[in-house]
Amino acid sequence: MTKTPIHAAAMAAAQLAAALLLAAPAHADEAAQMARGKELFSTATPAACALCHTLKDAGAEGAIGPVLDELQPDAARVARALRDGIGAMPSFKATLSEADIAALALYVSRASRMK
Ligand code: HEC
Repeated sequence: MTKTPIHAAAMAAAQLAAALLLAAPAHADEAAQMARGKELFSTATPAACALCHTLKDAGAEGAIGPVLDELQPDAARVARALRDGIGAMPSFKATLSEADIAALALYVSRASRMK
């Protein structure tokens, strides 16, 4: 099927809407970021965090990487590990958007401190 101009315009509009959503002020939607972070953490792809990490709030019991409830990394440390990879942990720069990295960083830093 070839793309009609109308189809292309609709795609562009949808992408613009998505970009505007992502650009919303960070504080406006911490609850949504936390929910997105938890979803990403627990979902098999593309993140797969739960396969390798234990994090009680996410019901994750992976044993390959450090127990995040004990490490309690701050958001910047989580984001760095996700962008650059660390040791046996791959970089997620190619598979996660910046918005998703931010959501995971917020979620992991907060959730690891929850009792
Ligand atoms: C293939 C297994 C694997 C996956 C998948 C994985 N990690 Fe890791 N992670 C590790 C290992 C191993 C380390 C320890 C690396 C080291 O210190 O040498 C680590 C370290 C970390 C650290 C600590 C970084 C630091 O500065 O010490 C954080 C935070 C982290 N992972 C978060 C995540 C998140 C969030 C995800 C999901 C996007 C994830 N990991 C996916 C294996 C994994």
